[in-house]
Amino acid sequence: MTSLNQTLFEKSSKLIPGGVNSPVRAFRSVGGTPIFFKKGLGSKLWDVDGKEYIDYINSWGPMIVGHAHPDVIKAVQEVAANSLSFGAPTGLELEMAELINKLVPSMEQVRLVSSGTEATMSAIRVARGFTGRNKLVKFEGCYHGHSDALLVKAGSGLLTFGKSNQLGVPSSAGVPAEVAAHTLTLEYNNTQSLKDLFAQMGDEIACVIIEPVVGNMNLIVPTQEFLQTLRALCTKHGAVLIFDEVMTGFRVALGGAQALYNIKPDMTTLGKVIGGGLPVGAFGGRKDIMQCLAPLGAVYQAGTLSGNPVAVTAGLETLKLIQAPDFHAKLTAQTKKLVDGLKAAAAEAGVVFSAQSVGGMFGIYFSEKCPTSFNEVMQSNKDHFNQFFHSMLDSGIYLGPSAFEAGFVSAAHTDEDIAFTIDAAKKAFKLLVAH
Ligand SMILES: Cc1ncc(COP(=O)(O)O)c(C=O)c1O
Repeated sequence: MTSLNQTLFEKSSKLIPGGVNSPVRAFRSVGGTPIFFKKGLGSKLWDVDGKEYIDYINSWGPMIVGHAHPDVIKAVQEVAANSLSFGAPTGLELEMAELINKLVPSMEQVRLVSSGTEATMSAIRVARGFTGRNKLVKFEGCYHGHSDALLVKAGSGLLTFGKSNQLGVPSSAGVPAEVAAHTLTLEYNNTQSLKDLFAQMGDEIACVIIEPVVGNMNLIVPTQEFLQTLRALCTKHGAVLIFDEVMTGFRVALGGAQALYNIKPDMTTLGKVIGGGLPVGAFGGRKDIMQCLAPLGAVYQAGTLSGNPVAVTAGLETLKLIQAPDFHAKLTAQTKKLVDGLKAAAAEAGVVFSAQSVGGMFGIYFSEKCPTSFNEVMQSNKDHFNQFFHSMLDSGIYLGPSAFEAGFVSAAHTDEDIAFTIDAAKKAFKLLVAH
């Protein structure tokens, strides 16, 4: 008998390209049919056929307190009763700005938008307006949303689908070469290439945008030296340093990666956790830079639903919850417990495997050691990942359907969830060896 899931996917594929509204959901990299969900609670998800899963995607990061947290749901229901949108200022936006400024003090001024893509796109426009320069520097395998200028050597779905990733060539069709020509791409964690680029054209660079811990080519951890050199070079040449903390914000530490590595960027972009599962993004930073924005300055940026009261409320409630004492210490410890258990299970089965975590983010790699760059990630064994992914899915463990995505743990993941996951991994690793 055909499952409801299969029927929904077949029908969706007729009306929605690929049957999905965002490409990584399509399971194209791992094969098989994407799962259609109907319910989530805490660390668990249930698909439309009633099967239960432990969720390590967490909506790609936002669900840091778990699904359907009662405080978040209650607050959203209450505020929704007062209208879903005004298109005019509310006190909730001020509360959010104050909270962001308290938790991420480098964000002296902040503007709310509706997605991470909007946040990075707008931050770059402000940086260009502020400096009067055009050139933008990014790093191989980092993903900053799907705006034109950022789809050069981009990570996430662009890696999964193996799109063109040569230097200066857009990763997506439909991006004019002239737009991509302003985007310069360097290798992550390569300090020398940074120095060389800045020596050559430092005074032409408007901004450098970076995932301070990368989660879009699987998890890649920066070296302190790399981030410090980047900070020093941007300062010396007057380039705006943008930390894209859409994924790392409030997740690797309460103050984000900038707190963890003690580096102060000029601008920061946020998304995911800041909306607690509803569409919120933010960009902000130095007041002198942010004052370039309309209506004060000449850089235009706007949004009908920016600062939407319902979405902001979900974010505010989530941010309140993650300020609980030891929240991040516990999340970090729980994530590490998972990673350590997976490593031990792989070693026991004799599978080439490595894993690591930062705060509530983790990476698993079918390679000898944890990669530090795009090239190293690409050398991991993708076939092994795909087999492992499907065995885990059969056991009710929902991992990202691609070898190039980081995983996420929430505060709702219990010791039992972790133990169950490691047991499933033991089985999956054994199957891998048997094949
Ligand atoms: C680091 C980073 N920046 C930007 C984005 C884009 O955010 P959104 O999908 O909300 O547009 C993402 C999405 O995964 C991301 O991980």
